[in-house]
Amino acid sequence: MNLSISLTVNGVRQEVELDDPRVTLLDLLRERLDLTGTKKGCDRGQCGACTVLVDGKRINSCLSLAISNDGADIVTIEGLAKGDEFHPVQAAFIAHDGFQCGFCTPGQIMSAVGLIAEGQAGEDAERIREGMSGNLCRCGAYVGITEAVLEATKAVADANRRKAA
Ligand code: FES
Ligand code: FES
Repeated sequence: MNLSISLTVNGVRQEVELDDPRVTLLDLLRERLDLTGTKKGCDRGQCGACTVLVDGKRINSCLSLAISNDGADIVTIEGLAKGDEFHPVQAAFIAHDGFQCGFCTPGQIMSAVGLIAEGQAGEDAERIREGMSGNLCRCGAYVGITEAVLEATKAVADANRRKAA
C-alpha cells in the first residue's frame, strides 16, 4: 500500500509517495529528495550527523519515520544559507575551521542553529558542549566547533537586537 505525505523542506512543499511506512526521514531526505547534505553516520541516534530542524526543533532524522513528519516544516543544511549569504553559524564554522573531517559538520551546524534558537547556548563553552553533546566530533575540530558556536550565538543575539530596535 502506498502512503502519501506532504511536507515542506527548505521552504518547498513536497508531496511524496512512500511504498514502505518504515522509511526514515533521513532516508527520505537523502534518497528521495536528493538532499545529501544531511549525513548518515550511525543510523541509530548516537552520532548526531543526521540532525535537521523539524518545526524549528532539532531532531535525529535517522530516528524519525518519514510518515510521522506529514505536514511538518523541515530545514536541512541546504536550507540555511540565503543565496550567497551564509547563515551566521555556517560563517562562524568557516572562520574557526570547525570541519576537520567534514562528515559530522552538517549535523553539528544544524544542532548549533537549534541550540541557539532554543536560547540554550548561553555565552560559555561548557554550556555549549553540554548542549551539543548529542553531536559527536572525534577529531581536532571540536575546539573550533565550540568557538564557532560561541561566536554565532553572539552574532545571532546581535542580529536579533538590531531587528528589535
Ligand atoms: S545517523 Fe542519526 S544519530 Fe547518527
Ligand atoms: S569535524 Fe567530524 S569528527 Fe570532527
